[in-house]
Amino acid sequence: MREKIRELYLDFLETADAKRRWNIFNDIPWERFDSVPPSEAVARAMEIYCVEEMYLPDYSSEGLRMLRGNFDMVGFQTRWAFEESQHGLVFREYLTRSGMRTADDIAELEAPVANRAWSLPFDTFRQMSCYGALQEAATYSAYKAQKDRALASGDQVAAAIFHHVGSDEAAHAAFYRSLTKLDLEEDRQGTIADLSHVLANFKMPGDGLIPDYHQRLESSGGGLSARTFLEKVILPTLTSLRISRAELKLAARRRNADASAPRGSSGAAIDQN
Ligand SMILES: [Fe+2]
Ligand SMILES: [Fe+2]
Repeated sequence: MREKIRELYLDFLETADAKRRWNIFNDIPWERFDSVPPSEAVARAMEIYCVEEMYLPDYSSEGLRMLRGNFDMVGFQTRWAFEESQHGLVFREYLTRSGMRTADDIAELEAPVANRAWSLPFDTFRQMSCYGALQEAATYSAYKAQKDRALASGDQVAAAIFHHVGSDEAAHAAFYRSLTKLDLEEDRQGTIADLSHVLANFKMPGDGLIPDYHQRLESSGGGLSARTFLEKVILPTLTSLRISRAELKLAARRRNADASAPRGSSGAAIDQN
């Protein structure tokens, strides 16, 4: 398992350096703000994304603590953290360089981040890999929708931002899926049980941390509907992992037989389809 994780990490790193490397200085056409005025709805969506990415110290420290002792996973987590740090930064730059928000506005956005900490939503590395596969895919889907919206409106700055950030998120999702594939090879039934548990209790990192998270995403057009989550996140993840819906339903039934296991809406969605 360790050897396979090492290979996954090196592949991830090689692609990250060769194909995905970008920075806010050279790869975002900031001068194009002149061509199309930024949209307030995009700015409000970008604000939520920015704050969600600002919880990076918690994501990193909690993740590193869990992975301590596995040099390759620590390497991945560190590279992942660098990439995530660029996401919050580029969103903040969009908000300020566009003139949509002032430095004081950003300080106000940041303030609650210092007061509330994110903690790991699941207990084990295997469950967190399942969570990473779903959460990163959901984040990619949300950013892809924003890229499409930006292209349709002619906002080339936002389109470039969501292109680069989205390609990072897609790579993160693929890495976590690869980890889960290794887990499935080792213990298929246990891993599917974990995936079922994660789906039933899934929520995005900012949910419960950022005030009015869902309302703000909905009003800015920045969120994902339950249907989109099912179609763009859950089903493609199952296909990639080669897990049938029948297997997942069986795991959900087993889980529900245990009266102490909580159930959430995501699990219900897949049960009904
Ligand atoms: Fe991100
Ligand atoms: Fe990510």
